[in-house]
Amino acid sequence: MNRLRPFVGLWLILVGLVVPAWVAAEDAVPPAGAPPAINRQYENPDYEQWVQAFERPGREVYDRRREIVAASGVKPGMALADIGAGTGLFTRLFAREVGPQGKVYAVDISQVFIDNIRRTSREQGLANVEGVVSTQTATRLAPGAIDLAFVCDAYHHFENPQAMLRSLHRALRSGGALVVIDFQRIHGHSSAWVMGHVRAGKEPAIREIEAEGFKLVDDSPLLRENFFLRFQRSERR
Ligand SMILES: C[S@@+](CC[C@H](N)C(=O)[O-])C[C@H]1O[C@@H](n2cnc3c(N)ncnc32)[C@H](O)[C@@H]1O
Repeated sequence: MNRLRPFVGLWLILVGLVVPAWVAAEDAVPPAGAPPAINRQYENPDYEQWVQAFERPGREVYDRRREIVAASGVKPGMALADIGAGTGLFTRLFAREVGPQGKVYAVDISQVFIDNIRRTSREQGLANVEGVVSTQTATRLAPGAIDLAFVCDAYHHFENPQAMLRSLHRALRSGGALVVIDFQRIHGHSSAWVMGHVRAGKEPAIREIEAEGFKLVDDSPLLRENFFLRFQRSERR
C-alpha cells in the first residue's frame, strides 16, 4: 500500500484538475448554434401529435402556463411576438390578454404550425393573431413592431442565435422586453436527455443575449426545471 501512495496522490491531483475543467468547459463554451437535426421533426409535423406533446399535464411550462403569462408582463393593447410558437399554446393565451386592441404575432419556422395556429385562432375568434413563417436567421417582423418578444422552449432550437437575437432587437420597440424560458442545464441535476438535447444552459444564454444589445433585468425563480429570464432592449449595441 505504501508503494502505491504516491500514485494515489497523483491520481487525486489529476481528478482534481481535470474534472472541474471538463465540467466548466462544457457549459462555458457551448456550440455556437443548435444542430439543424434538432428542428427536422418540425419540417412536416403532425400538428395533433405535437399538441399532445406540448399541451400535456406534466410539462412544466404547460402546467404553469397561466403564471408564466402573468409573469411575462403582458398588458391589454400590447403587440407581442411568440417566437417558436409551436402549436400556439402561448399565442392563444396571450391573444386573450392583449385583447382586441393588441396583437400577437405567432412566429415559427414551421409552415404547418403557423397554418394550424391561423386555423385555431380563427375557430376561437382570436382576430388579433397573425402567423409569420420565419427563418433561422430572421423573425420577418417589421422593425419596431413589438413591445415584447416571448421565447419559450425555443432558444435552444435556434441554429443561429446571434442572427435571431439581432432580428429580435430590430423588431422590438425602444425599451421593449424579451422573455426567455428554457431548460435548466445543470450537471448532476438535469436529466441525461436535457444534457444531450439542450445546447446552452442559463449562464451561457445570458452571455449570448446580453452581447446582442439586451440587459438582464429579472432572473425569476418561478419555475423549477426551466429558467425564466427577462431582458430589456438597450439602445447601445
Ligand atoms: C420545443 S418547441 C416549443 C413550442 C412552444 N414555444 C411551446 O413552448 O409550447 C420549439 C419550436 O421552435 C421552433 N423554432 C426552432 N427554431 C426557430 C427559429 N429560429 N425561429 C422561430 N422558431 C423556431 C420550432 O419549429 C418549434 O415549433
